[in-house]
Amino acid sequence: MTQESERRLKVLVTGGTGYIGSHTVVALQQQGFEVVVIDNLSNSHSDVINRIGKITGTKPEFHEFDLVDRQETDLFFTQNPDLAGIIHFAAYKAVAESMSDPLMYYSNNLVSLMNILEAMKNHGIVNLVFSSSCTVYGQPDELPVNETAPVKAAWSAYGSTKQMSEEIIRFSVRAYGIKSIALRYFNPVGAHQSALIGEFPRGIPNNLAPFITQTAIGLHDQLNVFGSDYNTPDGTAIRDFIHVVDLAEAHIAAVDRMIGNRTKADYEVFNLGTGKGYSVLEAIQAFEKVSGRKLKYRFVDRRQGDIEQLWADTAYANKELGWKAERSLEDMMDSAWKWEQALANEKS
Ligand code: WQD
Repeated sequence: MTQESERRLKVLVTGGTGYIGSHTVVALQQQGFEVVVIDNLSNSHSDVINRIGKITGTKPEFHEFDLVDRQETDLFFTQNPDLAGIIHFAAYKAVAESMSDPLMYYSNNLVSLMNILEAMKNHGIVNLVFSSSCTVYGQPDELPVNETAPVKAAWSAYGSTKQMSEEIIRFSVRAYGIKSIALRYFNPVGAHQSALIGEFPRGIPNNLAPFITQTAIGLHDQLNVFGSDYNTPDGTAIRDFIHVVDLAEAHIAAVDRMIGNRTKADYEVFNLGTGKGYSVLEAIQAFEKVSGRKLKYRFVDRRQGDIEQLWADTAYANKELGWKAERSLEDMMDSAWKWEQALANEKS
């Protein structure tokens, strides 16, 4: 008979076969949590479950269904009443796609969140970590940006769904006896050191790092650098790139904070960045240094919807979560490159 104290705390990770989700599942298991994953595989692969099992020795329980389906979602919670918390990653996240089909983004991202909240209310689950994004800030008036900065009008339907999701949660916590922590990611880059999991976008990647590594491995002729006329030192846009494993570790800190009853409000928000901004050119140079490859790229017009520069004030997360990003831009690019090479080896 397992003693209550010995029984592992069970955490649900929605979107757990995705990029940040899979790295967070690994970190949770390595911290001793039991993990159950829900994913509809719309932007990921079921083999990720096997790969997580190879890394940690334990394949997480996996349920494939769409959280937009209210009945399936409620049935899952009826069958899994003993959840210590939920980390909700499952959402569409391609900025450009959200501009061509905003309603698909609103219905998917908001309905799935509301079904999660409804289930928490009906099944007495208290702790929710929500995957938010720095995109809620738009182009801040001051840099670095901290959590008290005004949330500006969204620049994309994707960003708008993150802003709306935060508001839905903010007004739900008190009404339904829920606690929630929203984590605003800056720019996730890199992969687990095993090179068994990493960023695995379906189709042409939107984000910079996978486009760099795919260009270097020969999948694209060259990288287009969107804009070289920004008001920045080298003319290219600046971002706060953060290693995906640092990001995953922050989720453990957030879960621990809630389970340990250390939260200071029912709803808390934290920036997850490194606090340092690097330009697109600096990111390319870091990649060239760690890979020993010369990257072919050209400057083209700015991409619609891009902001000029953004990096995080991380003091609040460092202090309250007891968490700090440790890995460098070169670590990020090195792990991203090793992951890309591993993918190419698997195909050959
Ligand atoms: C970074 C910089 C591009 C590709 C988005 C979301 C954000 C988060 C991360 C989900 C920009 C430039 C890019 C390329 C380029 N997503 N770039 N050539 O737009 O900062 O943030 O992804 O959580 O919410 O908004 O990331 O990697 O697309 O772009 O020059 O082929 O790289 O113009 O300046 P972004 P990104």
